[in-house]
Amino acid sequence: MKVLVVYYSMYGHILQMAQAALEGVKEAAGVEPVLRRVREFEDIERDIPNHEHALAVWNRQKDIPVCTLDDLQAADGYLFGTPTRYGNMTAQMKRLFDSTVKLWLEGAFEGKPAGVFTSTASTHGGQETTSLSMMPPLLHLGMIIVGVPYSVPGMLHTEGRGGTPYGASTVAGARNELQPAPEDLAIARALGRRVAEVTRKLRG
Ligand SMILES: Cc1cc2nc3c(=O)[nH]c(=O)nc-3n(C[C@H](O)[C@H](O)[C@H](O)COP(=O)(O)O)c2cc1C
Repeated sequence: MKVLVVYYSMYGHILQMAQAALEGVKEAAGVEPVLRRVREFEDIERDIPNHEHALAVWNRQKDIPVCTLDDLQAADGYLFGTPTRYGNMTAQMKRLFDSTVKLWLEGAFEGKPAGVFTSTASTHGGQETTSLSMMPPLLHLGMIIVGVPYSVPGMLHTEGRGGTPYGASTVAGARNELQPAPEDLAIARALGRRVAEVTRKLRG
């Protein structure tokens, strides 16, 4: 039984959150964790060497395999992670969702659990809207949405950081200068574990 963590990250925050979610998946016995990145647009990939920070992050993740339709089909559960772009998911992640028509027609995702995670530059920059805007496509595909309950430590807080019931999240800073708080990574890990445990119950 496979749980797939699929993410897109330009400046590394969602990469860290994806790695935390993957650790959570590993905590669930009998589940194989799989990490994939979302394919980059060709024009952006060509431009990355001109941006020091983005290049450093690119070099950290370029060997992580790009997510294919076969990867999506083979998985029993999913975690999807994307930075916020104008309160929504990235176009790169949306392109992946929009490429699933053949699998949608086959009902390949029906009954499979999925959780989401995101990051924003600012505290109120759209963590909830991005997580919620990822859910309609996942529901159209027949997936069962898994959120983060308030029993997860660190969820009930008033600091400027992440952690929402709709999905894990973090704050990157206006110049991407912040790092995910330990609590944000712990919530991503808890979500990964929860998706894996639900996957095992539903698909085992
Ligand atoms: C085109 C564009 C739109 C963005 N829109 C938002 C936004 O609506 N709200 C926000 O807080 N941050 C916004 N950001 C900042 C990104 O969310 C931030 O760089 C990202 O969360 C960092 O994730 P990463 O390190 O994984 O790439 C935007 C960035 C870009 C390039």
